[in-house]
Amino acid sequence: MTRSKKGKRIGILTAGGDCPGLNAAIRGVGKTAIVEYGMKVYGISDGFLGLINQDYVELDESHLSGILTLGGTILGTSREKPFKKEEHFNAVDKPKLIKEHYNDLKLDALVCIGGNGTQKTAYKLSKAGLNIIGIPKTIDNDVWGTDISFGFDSAVSIATEAIDRLHTTANSHKRIMVIEIMGNHTGWLTLYSGLAGGGDIILLPELGYDEDVVAHNLIKRIEREKPYSIVVVAEGIKKPKELSAAHFISERINQLTGFESRETILGYTQRGGSPTPYDRILATYYGAYAIELITKEKFGNMVAIQNDKITSISLKEVAGKLREIPANYPLVKMGKNMGVCFGN
Ligand code: F6P
Repeated sequence: MTRSKKGKRIGILTAGGDCPGLNAAIRGVGKTAIVEYGMKVYGISDGFLGLINQDYVELDESHLSGILTLGGTILGTSREKPFKKEEHFNAVDKPKLIKEHYNDLKLDALVCIGGNGTQKTAYKLSKAGLNIIGIPKTIDNDVWGTDISFGFDSAVSIATEAIDRLHTTANSHKRIMVIEIMGNHTGWLTLYSGLAGGGDIILLPELGYDEDVVAHNLIKRIEREKPYSIVVVAEGIKKPKELSAAHFISERINQLTGFESRETILGYTQRGGSPTPYDRILATYYGAYAIELITKEKFGNMVAIQNDKITSISLKEVAGKLREIPANYPLVKMGKNMGVCFGN
């Protein structure tokens, strides 16, 4: 039996790595649900762990006030993957527990805010009979089926500012500066911040690179009287497992060219702090739209932006896919035409 819009009870959780905008999305979901539709909203702690452990609180408007600009997530998060097989003797059936606790809470729907891993779990739960709506977030911007995930714009801003700051010190010392940007599987954040920050060499996991091309480009730059270079590398480029991308590239540059090179790993600063105005609006819009989908009972879908329009896409289509930079991506071509080296 489905309740009328008014009496609906919904759960909301944030899962996977945190990013700026999570609280804006929680607020968008919660305020729309409570103010417009009089729903009851349950905030589930620490991603799917909260549903396994029955750790949740009813959110009222006071929980949702003053959080729009806050980084992190008021609900907490975790990388818990309930469908991952566990072999140990006291392993519990986590999907079964999640289903039981969802029913105990008498939820009409569950909003899962997260990246690729979360959307995959969300799809499996929806196949198991739960009413699920997904919301895409990640600084990596690699969730399939949407042109943009919230968190990305904020991370681009942070990374761009860091690259900007490297220019002045690189120029003063006439050095090569290598900066490593997050993104284990895809290079969207590296590409956008690299271009916005005027990177000279940009290395992306999807495109691959040749060390000799990188070295040759740096030597040519010196010959053209460019006294310093900024090399922006994604965390996930090809490298020995035990070394960071920045350390490996910096070392190879030094070995191949003899130039002095320094490395910077930006790390978790890219995921922390307040969201940009763009991310605040995007996350809020996604949150509010998730509630519209719930009122229309369009379950098993993820909210998305496609061609500048808000829409939804089935979780079945999203699950297990990765949104990668295509080799013919226009911004890569634009960069190449202006002399940016992509290592190939
Ligand atoms: O998915 C976001 C992300 O920040 C990636 O860019 C990075 O590789 C990964 O998370 C790091 O995850 P964790 O915080 O679990 O080590």
